[in-house]
Amino acid sequence: MNKENTTNEFFTDWKYAAAPEGTEHIKLNKQYDLFINGKFVKPNSKKYYTTINPATEEKLAEVADANEKDVDLAVNAAKNAYDKVWKKMPAKERSKYIFRIARLMQERAREFTVIESMNGGKPIRESRDVDVPLAANHFFYYAGWADKLDYAFPNKKPQSLGVAGQIIPWNFPLLMAAWKIAPALATGNTVVLKPAETTPLTALKLAELIRDSGLPDGVVNIVTGFGKTGAAIVNHPKVNKVAFTGSTDVGKLIQKSIAGTNKKATLELGGKAANIIFDDAPIDQAVEGIVNGIFFNQGHVCCAGSRLFVQENVADIVISKLKQRLETLIVGNPLDKNTDIGAINSKEQLQKINEFIKIGIDEGAEMYQSSCSIPSKGFFCKPTLFLHTSQSHRIVQEEIFGPVLAIQTFRTIEEVIEKANNIPYGLSAGVWTDKGSKIFNLTSKLRAGVIWANTYNKFDPSSPFGGYKESGFGREGGLHGLMPYLSF
Ligand code: NAI
Ligand code: MG
Repeated sequence: MNKENTTNEFFTDWKYAAAPEGTEHIKLNKQYDLFINGKFVKPNSKKYYTTINPATEEKLAEVADANEKDVDLAVNAAKNAYDKVWKKMPAKERSKYIFRIARLMQERAREFTVIESMNGGKPIRESRDVDVPLAANHFFYYAGWADKLDYAFPNKKPQSLGVAGQIIPWNFPLLMAAWKIAPALATGNTVVLKPAETTPLTALKLAELIRDSGLPDGVVNIVTGFGKTGAAIVNHPKVNKVAFTGSTDVGKLIQKSIAGTNKKATLELGGKAANIIFDDAPIDQAVEGIVNGIFFNQGHVCCAGSRLFVQENVADIVISKLKQRLETLIVGNPLDKNTDIGAINSKEQLQKINEFIKIGIDEGAEMYQSSCSIPSKGFFCKPTLFLHTSQSHRIVQEEIFGPVLAIQTFRTIEEVIEKANNIPYGLSAGVWTDKGSKIFNLTSKLRAGVIWANTYNKFDPSSPFGGYKESGFGREGGLHGLMPYLSF
């Protein structure tokens, strides 16, 4: 690193007093059962597993591991609630329940925020300002659509499908539950949802909230467990629609297993987004956008800006500023309000990231890491840059899902479009430039579902989200997000 170009000494002298959020107000049970037909019930499997705090490796609770019989009970409860109650209910009444879930979530926001950070490892600033408010907003937004489906799809006579089986990952546990449940309910479907094995607690808190909201029994069922539990949901004959967010490998398995059935599906899978910085971009804002793009939520973001393309004539200045900024990032306790980068979600995920860091070094790219220290307990990873990478490097082609950025330079627009698209994924991209015409040129040529211009990782319930190629198909959010839950 070129020391003369930076002011690291100045930045590393910055120290903040610790500002951890208290956990005294959090009520966690020792053991959680399955939420089926409006009640918490013991699993037929009689099995429980331990869920931990990835920042401390301490146990948080025991959680039920549902087997096929449990899934069958949940699906039947959902089917029964669909036929007898939810399908028949006037849309205006359905809407009130969804609205009530949103209001209750706002009221309990603090509790959800703290549990999300404890169980998932994400900085509390994010769970407080992003995950929980956005989750509530999704319920508000879709509550509004419930009685307006005929206006959303005029002359098409939209019909609900039945039971939606929904399987979600660990990177945005509550938000992904909201993305899945809110549109399903608004369109008149009932739900069986499985949270990821490492992050079940906010989904179980959501189950408590749903019970307290008075939503009719069986309309939403939440079953916890591992991949086998997810597969049992996908394969259940009474499930009419599958909604999945997670790895491309499992997405492919799901597609195979529903082939030949009339189950509808949406798959939101991996990504390897290009974040493209032109020489006319506002450099300081772009550097913030790069940092937000890849270090937000430890890089546990399917749309993370994990490939950086910088125009050659500004590469030195951008990389030097990026290194400086890296030094100021605070890695550590997710519950501390100053923390920028929290804990990696699991030991397995940390191993995967560390393997990729080794691969990057072996491939000959130049690694740069922040000089910050990381806690000795828990799963942490320093923010990492790889310079001088090329298209053939595995760290450029494969999803790492961690705070690791692969950097390349480019000269022309044609070159960067070709490089950005030369990847199996197509979920998102970012463009930084002063010129509107360049933005429109790129948005029409980049094969990605979401393209941010002069910003990154911005979400809104009214914007559709989803991928091209191996990033999956179908859209969630906005009016588009209603369609996968309807037949016309
Ligand atoms: P995963 O795809 O195995 O897990 C996601 C969800 O699918 C979990 O709820 C899991 O229990 C469930 N699942 C696993 N196997 C299943 C099966 N055969 N049938 C039905 N459901 C099943 O993802 P994992 O193993 O946690 O992470 C591996 C990699 O996947 C990560 O390193 C990352 O690259 C990527 N990933 C992408 C996500 C995204 O948002 N697109 C989210 C999580 C992981
Ligand atoms: Mg897996």
